[in-house]
Amino acid sequence: MELVKTVREIRTSLAPLRRRGARIGFVPTMGYLHEGHASLIRAARRENDVVVVSDFVNPTQFGPNEDFARYPRDLDRDRTVAAAAGADFLFAPSVEEMYPDGAGQFFVDVGPLAGHLCGRSRPGHFRGVATVVTKLFNIVQPHVAYFGQKDYQQALILRRMVRDLFFPLRITVYPTVREPDGLALSSRNTYLSPTERQEAVVLYQSLQEAGRSLAAGERDATRLRHRMEEVVGRADSSRVDYIEIVDPLTLLPLERVEKPALFALAVFIGKTRLIDNALFDPSGKELSADELFNRTWSEWE
Ligand code: PAJ
Repeated sequence: MELVKTVREIRTSLAPLRRRGARIGFVPTMGYLHEGHASLIRAARRENDVVVVSDFVNPTQFGPNEDFARYPRDLDRDRTVAAAAGADFLFAPSVEEMYPDGAGQFFVDVGPLAGHLCGRSRPGHFRGVATVVTKLFNIVQPHVAYFGQKDYQQALILRRMVRDLFFPLRITVYPTVREPDGLALSSRNTYLSPTERQEAVVLYQSLQEAGRSLAAGERDATRLRHRMEEVVGRADSSRVDYIEIVDPLTLLPLERVEKPALFALAVFIGKTRLIDNALFDPSGKELSADELFNRTWSEWE
């Protein structure tokens, strides 16, 4: 695997491969790679001739009071993990390389999907994500890009972006990888103290509770949300940012679960904000985001 730090180098490396017809798979990350990232890299390896992983903590998607400065970074370890999972190139540019004119002038305006869920507590976040992913897509020009369902709203927004702006690539969404107790893997889990780490499992448990309640016939979103709040409240260190049951394509709140619904939550465990989600059909069966997106937007992507 080759470590590449400049836009010029990655373009120079990929251009001849692309000309020879190689299919390029791309996994954008902010580094501090874990098994969730590795699962995406392995999927890219299976489905492509060339696998590019980017490793860039993107300043424009962090709010002024967020954790950009202390976000965990470990390029040496990332090299090992990315290589073991099958990456050919690890693209790890500096902030100056990606934003040569400071924050620059042009941004991608996400529209209404950024006004819900995480977008409400993190204004500007998805604008930063859409902008950096656009830059990365233009640099790497992949045939397929891989994202995790863990960040459902991000995956939805980027699928819509690719469709609405006619990016010539496909986005594939892979399931959330979890710890044995159910906690979704996240680079931010390293912030948790041992007690907080144990308590963090309530996010997953609340989703399981929602699935069980649906299976038992509950359809009322307010009551389902209360069940989830109750489970989250069992952790002393928890403070709810949001718990929502929404339409999985518009992210608008549902009153009743009569069709597939996204159950999404963001919870502070101590000072650390964690997110998780699940897609359920009304019977409580879990659905895959990728299948839902493919069913909705099958004609071109
Ligand atoms: P990051 O949080 O590093 O995540 C990179 C990719 O890994 C995302 O697609 C994310 O959904 C996926 N991922 C994270 N945890 C996962 C888990 N437990 N299971 C499966 N997939 C998981 O998301 C970002 O970086 C950034 O916003 C980025 C898209 C790179 C733009 O800066």
